[in-house]
Amino acid sequence: MTSPGTLALATRGLRKSYGKRLALDGLDLSVPEGVVYGFLGPNGAGKTTTMRLLTGLLHPDSGSIELLGRPFRRGDRQRLFEVGALVENPSFYPYLSGRANLGVLAQSGATVPKGRIEELLELVGLRERAKDKLSGYSLGMKQRLGIAGALLSDPKLLLLDEPANGLDPAGIVAMREMLRRLAAMGKTVFVSSHLLAEVRVLADVVGIIAAGRLVREGPLDSLLGDQGLVRVRVARSEAGAARAVLERIAPTDADGDPADPEPWLSVHVEPNRAGAVNRALAEAGIYASGLESGTDLELLFLQLTGGGAPSSEGTFGAAGVTAGVAPSQATGGNAATKDGQG
Ligand SMILES: Nc1ncnc2c1ncn2[C@@H]1O[C@H](COP(=O)(O)OP(=O)(O)O)[C@@H](O)[C@H]1O
Ligand SMILES: [Mg+2]
Repeated sequence: MTSPGTLALATRGLRKSYGKRLALDGLDLSVPEGVVYGFLGPNGAGKTTTMRLLTGLLHPDSGSIELLGRPFRRGDRQRLFEVGALVENPSFYPYLSGRANLGVLAQSGATVPKGRIEELLELVGLRERAKDKLSGYSLGMKQRLGIAGALLSDPKLLLLDEPANGLDPAGIVAMREMLRRLAAMGKTVFVSSHLLAEVRVLADVVGIIAAGRLVREGPLDSLLGDQGLVRVRVARSEAGAARAVLERIAPTDADGDPADPEPWLSVHVEPNRAGAVNRALAEAGIYASGLESGTDLELLFLQLTGGGAPSSEGTFGAAGVTAGVAPSQATGGNAATKDGQG
């Protein structure tokens, strides 16, 4: 298998079952270098399983993995010195300080340059608290120290499984800023999340996984910039007439359950045309009982997580805009030293 040198991580046809339960069903990921890649999927989609395969904690039933342009196979765990990972909860000594814990980790791997620990404490925003015992750290601080541990070997690629899970809002912001900083340094950050809102403000590139398969992948901007949709809900007896009216505005699909007494229709227009859609229906004497607008990405994710048509009224794209997502400066990575993270 060949892939352009611009991919930091690629999987092809990755399959993994736990007994009879199929967790990954032919996963194909393409993660460009130097970006924050948001690996988005509902709970149970297969994110952690993917992370375990990428770090050699599990082996795939079939399919292949390429890390930093080279195949990653069974027995290649030593290659993980090029890759930093935080997949399970980091284990630290509670009675040692954050700084001392990094020191212990550094000794268990290969030589870490002098000053590296101080640099990392600064980078993850823990310099002020570095001398405090770990037992007094918040979850967010422990997560950030875990990431510092994963960075000891100065890896080019960082794999993080839901690092924002369980953090308070301030912790989430600190985590996000830190991950953006890493990407700006030229590292590739592959980070999973089950929250679209989180990925929207963090990632450059998004891959959506559901039931062990990739359902969408691409730059966040282009996924959000996809045409968008306005959805209306009407009585079943009026659905045919409504559709005829809406087709005059733009192509319209009937989606969801056709037996629903009030089915949803999706009109493929810009989300800001919701008013025009509603007016066209009203002029035809049809009154919508629900109206929503947003991007394809939001709708897709709602369907994946909710298992059907969104039930809320109003705009499903209201929360959070993509402001603050800066394209990362993709420059080359740093030469990797050896792994410091067990
Ligand atoms: N150790 C395990 N044994 C059996 N089934 C598992 C195990 N780990 C995960 N699964 C199942 O595999 C699927 C994917 O799980 P997981 O990779 O943890 O998803 P995610 O991290 O996206 O929530 C789920 O159906 C889950 O129940
Ligand atoms: Mg998980």
